[in-house]
Amino acid sequence: MSLQQELTALFSQAFEAEELESSFGAVAVSQRPELADFQCNGALGAAKPAGRNPRDIAAAIVAHVDAPELIDTLDIAGPGFINIHISDKALAGSVSAMSDTERLGVAPIHRPLTVVVDYGGPNMSKALHVGHLRAAIIGESVKRLFSFLGHTTIGDIHMGDWGMPIGQLIVELQDRQPDLPYFDPEYDVAVDGPYPEESPVTLDDLSDMYPVITRRCADDPEVAERARVATFELQNGRAGYLAVWEHFHSVSVAEQTKDFKALGVEFDVWYGESTVNQHLEPMVRTALAGGVGYESDGAVIVDVATPEDKKELPPLLLTRSDGSYLYSTTDLATIEMRVKDMGMDLGLYVVDARQGLHFEQVFRAARKMNILPSDVMVEHIGFGTVNGPDGRPFKTREGGVLRLGDLIALVTEGARARLDEAHIAEDYPDEERDVIARQVGLAALKFGDLSNHRTSNYTFDLERFSAFEGKTGPYLQYSAVRIKSILRRADKQGLKAAEMIPPTVSQERILMLRLVRLSEVVHRAADLRAPNVLAEYSYELATDFSRFYEHCHILNEPDVRRQASWLALVSLTLDVLTKLLDLLGIEIPDRM
Ligand code: ARG
Repeated sequence: MSLQQELTALFSQAFEAEELESSFGAVAVSQRPELADFQCNGALGAAKPAGRNPRDIAAAIVAHVDAPELIDTLDIAGPGFINIHISDKALAGSVSAMSDTERLGVAPIHRPLTVVVDYGGPNMSKALHVGHLRAAIIGESVKRLFSFLGHTTIGDIHMGDWGMPIGQLIVELQDRQPDLPYFDPEYDVAVDGPYPEESPVTLDDLSDMYPVITRRCADDPEVAERARVATFELQNGRAGYLAVWEHFHSVSVAEQTKDFKALGVEFDVWYGESTVNQHLEPMVRTALAGGVGYESDGAVIVDVATPEDKKELPPLLLTRSDGSYLYSTTDLATIEMRVKDMGMDLGLYVVDARQGLHFEQVFRAARKMNILPSDVMVEHIGFGTVNGPDGRPFKTREGGVLRLGDLIALVTEGARARLDEAHIAEDYPDEERDVIARQVGLAALKFGDLSNHRTSNYTFDLERFSAFEGKTGPYLQYSAVRIKSILRRADKQGLKAAEMIPPTVSQERILMLRLVRLSEVVHRAADLRAPNVLAEYSYELATDFSRFYEHCHILNEPDVRRQASWLALVSLTLDVLTKLLDLLGIEIPDRM
C-alpha cells in the first residue's frame, strides 16, 4: 500500500467513526508543500449533507486519527482543511518498501483486463512519415503503461489494407504497367502458371503513386469509378488483384517493420482491415436480419444518433450501394473479432483526434449491433497534430512530408551536435557515440511529444527538444546516466547501500516525498490514458534528485550509515527513473 493509500484508509475510518461517508477520507498530496505533505479536504464536502460546521468535523476527524508512527502532526487550516505531516520514519519506511519490489511499490490493479491497444495503423503501401509519429509514440507508451500495471496487452497495428486506397493503387499500377498479368482477366494460374514472385513495385514506388492517384480520382470521376470497381473486385476475391495485394502487403510490412523498430515500437499482431474480410458479409447480413441495419438508396446503413445528441450524428454506412465495404465496416468486424477471439475487455484506439466522429459512429453501431457486450469498453484515445514553426502540420523545407527514417536521421544529427557542443561522450569510440546520439535523438523526439497532453497540437522544435537543460528527454537521460555514474563510483570505492534511515536534510526529504507518489502517478497516467503525467513526474523527480545531490555529497559523507542510506535512495531513484523512461519508450545509455 502506498503512503497515500495508507493515509486514505486511516482517514476513511475516521469519517466512518464520525458517521460520515468514508469517501470523504480521501487524502491527496498537498498543493502547498511548505505547509504540509498531504491533505484531506473531506470535512468541507461532508459539512453540507451533515448540516455541521466543517471546522468542527475536521476537529472531530483529527481526534479520531491516532497513528503516531505514521503521522507527526495534523493541523486544521482555513475552513476545515486537514494538513498532514508525516513522520520521517514512516516516510523512510515507505520509500524503502518500494525498493523491495519489482513493481517499485506500484499498487496492483484490482481486475486485470485484456487490453487491445490499436495504435492508429498506417495504411498499407505508405512509407511511414511524420504523420504516423504520434500514434506510434503515444500508443507504445500507453501499451507499456497498461502492461506494467498488470493488464494483458495486445498491440495491434490495424493496417489499412482493404479499402478504397488499395483499389486506387491497383488502378494506378495498371495504368503504369498495363501488361502485368495481374490485370489480365483471362489469366488462369492453372494454365498460365503462378503469378510472378517478385513485386512489381517497391514501397517507395507505392508511396509516390499514392498522392498521384488520389489527385486523379478527385479530378476525374471516371478514374474514381474504376478505383471503386477495383476495390469491390478485390474485396470479392478477384485473383489477380489479390496477388497484387500480396505484393503491396509484403513490401509494406517489410519496410514499416524496419521503421517502427527504429523507433522502438513493436506490435504484437500485424492484423489489418483485410483480416476480418470473411466476417464482413455475415455481419452485414445479421444487422439486416435484426433490423439494426437497413437499406437506403442501395446502401446499408445503421442509425446511430440519439435524441440526447447535441450535434447531429450521421448514420454509419455498412456497405456502399455497390456492396463494397468501408473503413467503418472493417472496424466493426474487427471489434467483433477482438471480443470473440482475443477476449478484449478494453479497446484503446490511439488515433488522430480528427477521426473522432468515425469512432463515435463505430462504437455506437457496435453496441446497437450487439457486437460489443456491455462489459467491454472501447475508447478513442485521440491526439493532436505535430506542427511546424508556421503553426501548420509539419512539412519539410521543400513542403513535402518528412519520412520517418529521415526524421530519425535528423534528430540523431541534432543530438550529435548537442553532444559535441556540451563535450559529452567526446572521447568514446565512434560506434558508442553513434548509439548514444541515436538514443538521445529518439529521447528528444519522444519526450518532446509525450510531454504534451496528447490532445494538444505541438510545434516540432528540434532545438528545444534536444537541449540538455529543461524539460527534455536528453535532460532526463543525462540525469539517469549521472546517477549510474555515481553508483559506479561508489561501487569502485567499495561502498554499499544499506537500510534507509529517516531523512536529515530537506532536499532528501523532498526527494523521498516525490518517490512515494509513484504509485498514484502511474495509476493516474493510466486512468487518464495520458503519458504526459509520467513525463511531468519524471522531470520533477530528476530535478528533486539534482537538488538532493547538490546538497548531499554522498561519496564523501563521513557518517557511514547516512551514506549507505543515501546510496539506497540513489539506487531507487535510478530504478524509478529508468522505469518511467521505459514507459515513455526512452532508452538510457550506460554512460555519456
Ligand atoms: N489506417 C487508419 C488511417 O490511416 C488508421 C487506423 C486506426 N485504427 C482503427 N481501428 N481504425 O487513418
